[in-house]
Amino acid sequence: MSTEGETGGAVELTKGVYWVGAIDWNGRDFHGFTTPGGTTYNSYLVVGEKTALIDTVKVPFAGEMLRRISQIIDPSKLDYIVVNHMEPDHSGSLAELKKQTNAKILITKRGVDILNGYFRDASSEKWDFETVQTGDQLDLGSKTLIFLEAPMLHWPDSMETFLKEDRILFSNDGFGQHIATSKRYDFEVGDVMPEAAEYYANILMPFHMPLLSYFRVLEELEIEPLQIAPSHGIIWKQDLKKILEAYRAWANGEVKEKVLVIYDTMWGSTEIMANEIAETVLAEGVEVKLLNLRKNTRSHIMKEMLDAAVFAVGSPTLNNGLFPTVGDFLIYLKGLRPQKKKALAFGSYGWGGGAVKIVEQELKNAGVEVLEPGLQVKYRPYEKELEGCRKLGEQLAAAAKEQ
Ligand SMILES: Cc1cc2nc3c(=O)[nH]c(=O)nc-3n(C[C@H](O)[C@H](O)[C@H](O)COP(=O)(O)O)c2cc1C
Ligand SMILES: [Fe+2]
Ligand SMILES: [Fe+2]
Repeated sequence: MSTEGETGGAVELTKGVYWVGAIDWNGRDFHGFTTPGGTTYNSYLVVGEKTALIDTVKVPFAGEMLRRISQIIDPSKLDYIVVNHMEPDHSGSLAELKKQTNAKILITKRGVDILNGYFRDASSEKWDFETVQTGDQLDLGSKTLIFLEAPMLHWPDSMETFLKEDRILFSNDGFGQHIATSKRYDFEVGDVMPEAAEYYANILMPFHMPLLSYFRVLEELEIEPLQIAPSHGIIWKQDLKKILEAYRAWANGEVKEKVLVIYDTMWGSTEIMANEIAETVLAEGVEVKLLNLRKNTRSHIMKEMLDAAVFAVGSPTLNNGLFPTVGDFLIYLKGLRPQKKKALAFGSYGWGGGAVKIVEQELKNAGVEVLEPGLQVKYRPYEKELEGCRKLGEQLAAAAKEQ
């Protein structure tokens, strides 16, 4: 197993609790989510009289994780592996780990199906596992784990684990951020809210209802963490309140007076329209962001979308249809099901046209309220067409102020 790029050893978070995960310094794409700053896969080792490993890491990093575990205990002596989530970034290393230990796997009922889906050996070799559900506790001797199902945060099987004595919530994908760093805590790295927002927008935005239910379960179980330790990025301690408040606001679809103008262009006409619209929004006193789809990743645009009340989408007509980057963006947007947004469409065409109508239809399919009519301009926009763009800008600014 490669040890290239491994940085540092296991990190003690508090007595008997260690970070033993891996740092993916060079990860730049996370299933379509562009991660310019890399990421981490966080595994945590809890040592009482018995030992439990909470989550594993992506396959290429199994050796790195095992090396860190070995600094604390002999991996073959591990008693439990808590599988909070079966997605391969957290469970990929189970096979490697199972070769070295007889630890019992603790997993949700929904997780078992996925375990069997990814690992034939799990059923054929009868891996030793036990299902757990919300409220179940595991006494490790001086350390108690409480399990808390968190369905759809991020997959049906998702679960979180609370360490009662130290009040650490191992939140798996919830509250994560894609950042590669050798630091483990928020107060060591400065402000990571932008990365947390981008993570939420691209990973958890569709699941605002499950998130609201999850907050109710936290209250019912009286889980009041002092630290939230996700499976990607840094641990929330100093900014714990801030991230919890941000998650509540995002789950409730809270937006501000902010407009996005998202577009692409072949020969510059749709871009002239985009500029004119953005200028007008700004002149109306509303914050605006102009986002060219070939200069901004879709993940970055979705981060900007999180707190934007209103947006516009511009596409030239290409072969009777959308420009491909616009199509890509609209498909991505639909999957992320943004709440309470209003939008309008614009673009330049040459003969038959059509892109603006398709954008409007796709926006409706994404559950966005469409401000009609949009604006389709033949070839270059001149004074009359620019006046039309200014009207759109005014309309967008007014809609943003209404929020
Ligand atoms: C490869 C290509 C295919 C095109 N296909 C169509 C089309 O099917 N229907 C249409 O109305 N215009 C079509 N056009 C014309 C463009 O929509 C027109 O030039 C428009 O002004 C481009 O806007 P832009 O400057 O923002 O790229 C096509 C242009 C190109 C370069
Ligand atoms: Fe996940
Ligand atoms: Fe993940």
